[in-house]
Amino acid sequence: MNQETIKDWFNDTYKSRGTSYLRPKEAYYIFMELMGAKSGGKILDVACGLGQMLKVAKDYDMDLYGVDISDVAIGMAKEALPNAHLSVENAESLPFEDNTFDFITCLGSLERMLDLDKVLSEQVRVAKPGARFCYMVRNSERMSWKIVKQGLGIINKKGHQGAKSMEAWTEIFNQQGLKVDRVHQDQWPKKRWSRWLSLNDRITKVDYKEIMKPVSNMEQAYEFIFILSKK
Ligand SMILES: C[S@@+](CC[C@H](N)C(=O)[O-])C[C@H]1O[C@@H](n2cnc3c(N)ncnc32)[C@H](O)[C@@H]1O
Repeated sequence: MNQETIKDWFNDTYKSRGTSYLRPKEAYYIFMELMGAKSGGKILDVACGLGQMLKVAKDYDMDLYGVDISDVAIGMAKEALPNAHLSVENAESLPFEDNTFDFITCLGSLERMLDLDKVLSEQVRVAKPGARFCYMVRNSERMSWKIVKQGLGIINKKGHQGAKSMEAWTEIFNQQGLKVDRVHQDQWPKKRWSRWLSLNDRITKVDYKEIMKPVSNMEQAYEFIFILSKK
């Protein structure tokens, strides 16, 4: 597997599935709430895909920046967000000055990076001191991941090579000069089911305070949401 294979896989996926490959826009407000975002500021979404996160950040009147390795994704994101600064980049090298951004998000993507240390150090470099980060990352310890996917060998290796435990992610982030403020369990898988089962349970009804409640079974999280700040 190499970078070209990963890029081709995402290009094909976006061409065939479009936004149906991703969560609906409404499911991204939670990340802004968890970062404590108010109005204004500069946000960079690394591996921005079709720009779902940036569409939400637009509602917060932010200056929008996004990069992705998929040219298909960036083309589609540009159509949806003509005023955003969007470019095709490998996240291992970001074309921005030091200390530029107030908020950095990277959702469902860090586990897909081939050189995670480079990717993280670049984000820390371009973040302002005290900038807030939101990372959503795959949990390697969840039963369904460990036994069903790894055990049966049906992990999509082109897209999910690097799931890790919460402790392993925490250590990597600390080593890069990031302070972990909080870790939450992603609620989307649960919400998606209840949304399908009940026409009334619209995602817009999600109270973000629900996600703030401490949970005892973090090891069964499908994905973790890390809220961090630059030390
Ligand atoms: C599951 S998608 C998530 C997209 C978006 N963050 C979201 O949540 O809507 C993962 C994204 O990572 C991008 N990606 C993978 N490796 C990358 C790299 N090295 N540099 C930049 N983007 C990358 C893919 O093209 C894809 O758009």
